[in-house]
Amino acid sequence: MAFEIHEKTMAKTRILTGITTTGTPHLGNYVGAIRPAIAASRNPDAESFFFLADYHALIKCDDPARIQQSTLEIAASWLACGLDPEKVYFYRQSDIPEIPELTWLLTCVTAKGLLNRAHAYKAATDANRAAGEDPDAGINAGLYMYPVLMAADILLFNANKVPVGRDQVQHIEMARDIGQRFNHIYGGEYFTLPEAAIEDNVATLPGLDGRKMSKSYNNTIPLFAGGEKALNKAIMEMVTDSSRPGSAEDAQGSALYQLIGAFADNVHEEVATAFHRSNPSQAGWGTLKKHAIESINHSIGKYRDEYEQLISNAEKIEEILQAGAKRARELAQKRIAQLREAVGLRNLRGFVKKIPKSAEQQPDEPSLQFVVFRDEDKAFAFKVLDAKKNVVVTKSGFADPKTARDAAQLAMNAVTAAS
Ligand code: TRP
Repeated sequence: MAFEIHEKTMAKTRILTGITTTGTPHLGNYVGAIRPAIAASRNPDAESFFFLADYHALIKCDDPARIQQSTLEIAASWLACGLDPEKVYFYRQSDIPEIPELTWLLTCVTAKGLLNRAHAYKAATDANRAAGEDPDAGINAGLYMYPVLMAADILLFNANKVPVGRDQVQHIEMARDIGQRFNHIYGGEYFTLPEAAIEDNVATLPGLDGRKMSKSYNNTIPLFAGGEKALNKAIMEMVTDSSRPGSAEDAQGSALYQLIGAFADNVHEEVATAFHRSNPSQAGWGTLKKHAIESINHSIGKYRDEYEQLISNAEKIEEILQAGAKRARELAQKRIAQLREAVGLRNLRGFVKKIPKSAEQQPDEPSLQFVVFRDEDKAFAFKVLDAKKNVVVTKSGFADPKTARDAAQLAMNAVTAAS
């Protein structure tokens, strides 16, 4: 039986994204994810779901202390930057047991071939092949199943939009595929099909070495960890070339200029002013570095106190996460109950109730059935039979079995409606 499960009337756009808990938030995370997500969460037409993807973290990290530390730092960072945990759903993935439960339901409708084609898995097997190893050497099944877990994160809450980096777009497409497959197999609109929201207007920040700032390049500048001191130190140590820029034009195109651009409203004007203020004989990369520190502090300095308070009060963060999980689970539990029903993981009590209790009880309706057959002229024909196998309708002269079946169905409906 197809029935509409998702809240069709829900007017708000659901935005959902997960943050893997393996590292310390850096400026790239702030500019690329934290800042735009918090801004979007303030839109009254949106309903935001932000969660700490700690099940995903286990796939690439087997250091328990690091996962816990990262969970604390990420939660403190998002909260310090102004996320309102009462206006959004802010939770830890592993506090929602419905997520792994849904993961299994989805696993059973996911084509193995689909997972073979996932970029992350393919890259790992390609590397093994290139090294002359067994393609699956050293690859855990978690990496292989990663897209299904992610699909469960998204589909459980019927998210409409999923802000992610380009490297994650394939995973959103897979979530759509998997959701669609489930809808098709179980004959209902159980899942909303999500869309990736790629933040193209969001700057990718250059890291310490000028390449994209990323944990995997080990070239990040921490957002809050280590305080202002660590920020100053990191920026002063940024790699520059041997030129000596003396104007905003000279500096344009450099990593430092880009970095300032992510925090300044009008980078060119600001950099020009910075050169203007500095002693011309000393102007150079140092001028830009000082200005970078200034503009970053101007943006995030105001959050530092709150961050320090939160990070030293893990208990409070835990409370916030628990409250978030409680609210998210209220939605999740309803959803999973409907999905369990859909696939047949059902309470047997409901089954007993549908069986007539005693023999005296009248059967609800005469049960009808039809048969299609070929008559002596080889034309297709049907008979509609009642519960006692009496023929109630019969017709012949159909060109093919499908037409005969369709006509039989109509005839049966007509008999039912008349009785
Ligand atoms: N895989 C994502 C990343 O590494 C994190 C993530 C997990 C996620 N589940 C998600 C993102 C669901 C969006 C939606 O960036």
